Amino acid sequence: MASRTSCLTFLLIVAAAVVPLAVHGNSEGDSLYALRRSLSDPNGVLQSWNPNLVNPCTWFHITCDSNGHVTRLDLGNSNLSGHLVPELGNLEHLQYLELYKNNIEGTIPAELGNLKSLISLDLYNNNLSGVIPPSLGNLKSLIFLRLNDNRLSGRIPKELTDISTLKVVDFSSNDLCGPIPTSGSFQHVPMGNFEKNPRLEGPELMGLASYDINCK
Ligand SMILES: *[C@@H]1O[C@H](CO)[C@@H](O)[C@H](O)[C@H]1NC(C)=O
Ligand SMILES: *[C@@H]1O[C@H](CO)[C@@H](O)[C@H](O)[C@H]1NC(C)=O
Repeated sequence: MASRTSCLTFLLIVAAAVVPLAVHGNSEGDSLYALRRSLSDPNGVLQSWNPNLVNPCTWFHITCDSNGHVTRLDLGNSNLSGHLVPELGNLEHLQYLELYKNNIEGTIPAELGNLKSLISLDLYNNNLSGVIPPSLGNLKSLIFLRLNDNRLSGRIPKELTDISTLKVVDFSSNDLCGPIPTSGSFQHVPMGNFEKNPRLEGPELMGLASYDINCK
């Protein structure tokens, strides 16, 4: 009898621990829904993003892996405006963040540096301003980093040159300033991919840092 009671108690404890996880929202879905709320979507491309579903894997423009984790967000050329959100940094399995050719404004959240699985960060052709977060140097799987055709300012963070996987970098047509890093993975970036930044100083001289106090 005693053992049946304790067995029942055990089951109740397990049920209490598991049930709330099943009925409450999926955390990756919550993060994506925070993005939806922060964007203006005149063409209705985010209409299928329903936060009441078990996970976001059936939403349009979202791809998941076999474990139900979000690996791709494909919303290039979707007529979106509004802002990015720090919650995007919670999508720890995300490999492709494709938001190019929209009219998104505001800053690039530093939390994107938490996306340790990210292969491609394509934010080109938007209206993003502020600095390129140095935290992006933590993206150790990144191959594509295209931030061209925005209004980004400040220096190109030297941290980015330590991403050994980086192959395609484009920062052209922004308002960046200071020297162009030429070490590490930046050794083979064509100079054209930095053009149309009137305040950029040109390739950094070996070992010599430049301290332009007006570079902000
Ligand atoms: C984009 O949205 C605007 C409304 O904000 C609309 O006037 C325009 O036609 C849309 N463009 C396309 C290509 O759908
Ligand atoms: C870009 O954003 C600025 C405000 O931050 C705004 O004045 C400007 O009109 C925007 N550009 C476009 C093309 O929407």
